[in-house]
Amino acid sequence: MSNFLSAYSIQTWLESCPQGYLMDTEYGHAPGEEEPDAFLDNDVLREDAIRTTTQLVLGERCALAASSGLINCAPDYASKHFLATQTLDEARHVEIFTQRLYDLGIKDDDLESTLQQYGNPNLVKFAEVLLEKVDKGDFVAGVVGQNIVLEGMAFSVFEMLQAISQTSNTKLAHILSGTIADERRHVGFGENRIGALITQYPNRKPEIEQMQKDMTYHMLATFADSFSDRAETLEESRRILGSGESDGGAAVWHGADLSVAEPEEMEKVLADTVLKEFKVRLGRIGLEYQSPPKPKAA
Ligand SMILES: [Fe+2]
Ligand SMILES: [Fe+2]
Repeated sequence: MSNFLSAYSIQTWLESCPQGYLMDTEYGHAPGEEEPDAFLDNDVLREDAIRTTTQLVLGERCALAASSGLINCAPDYASKHFLATQTLDEARHVEIFTQRLYDLGIKDDDLESTLQQYGNPNLVKFAEVLLEKVDKGDFVAGVVGQNIVLEGMAFSVFEMLQAISQTSNTKLAHILSGTIADERRHVGFGENRIGALITQYPNRKPEIEQMQKDMTYHMLATFADSFSDRAETLEESRRILGSGESDGGAAVWHGADLSVAEPEEMEKVLADTVLKEFKVRLGRIGLEYQSPPKPKAA
């Protein structure tokens, strides 16, 4: 427990995060970094960036509600301290991605209607499954849903977006690198804290596995929506950004060259990567990954 205590303490968080990799950042990026003109001047690119960022804001709002909600049902103070740091991380994520919407030209008054307009209904359902457990004060299910499923998904989505943005949008790539470092810590906590509790309460397994199955279903449906009808947008953005040719490996992610991949290939590599992570992480805490039915195309 002592390693656990120090690895997830507020002191460690202060030193590694605000006083470490976030030092001298402004909304997660270097001061003065801006959205590239291409994202502001071209309607297709701008709308696509707004749509993608909307899903990030909604996912992070769910993580904020879940991590703060879990503090009061955590069984020990080491977990409460960690979740307090995670709450601030998630609030920061909500803020930086919301700031990106403002940077893309969304007015303060239009924020909620923009999130409504572009929010993926499947992502909203994904969040509801998790928040229902949190609202019931179910710590074990809540941590599995949040720190393994939600954050396992977020982690891979951020990594993929970062690989795509590496050369076309360094501001976004920098925002994502700090966020990825945070998510790595959150996922680590989930694995380290929950394994022991699952062993202690084996009768909880079926219900938690059902939650994982439901969340996975809505996640795969979200991915399917996000990559359907994307060929033209992708083509336009590659034309504007001057890519569309292999960039020599800068955007290779889990074997797929994202600078040239078709939307179907991008969806597949993302889903495969996330599901592989789920299987490994769930296995480590003594749960067996449950495969959901294949979502119907929208
Ligand atoms: Fe987050
Ligand atoms: Fe997180």
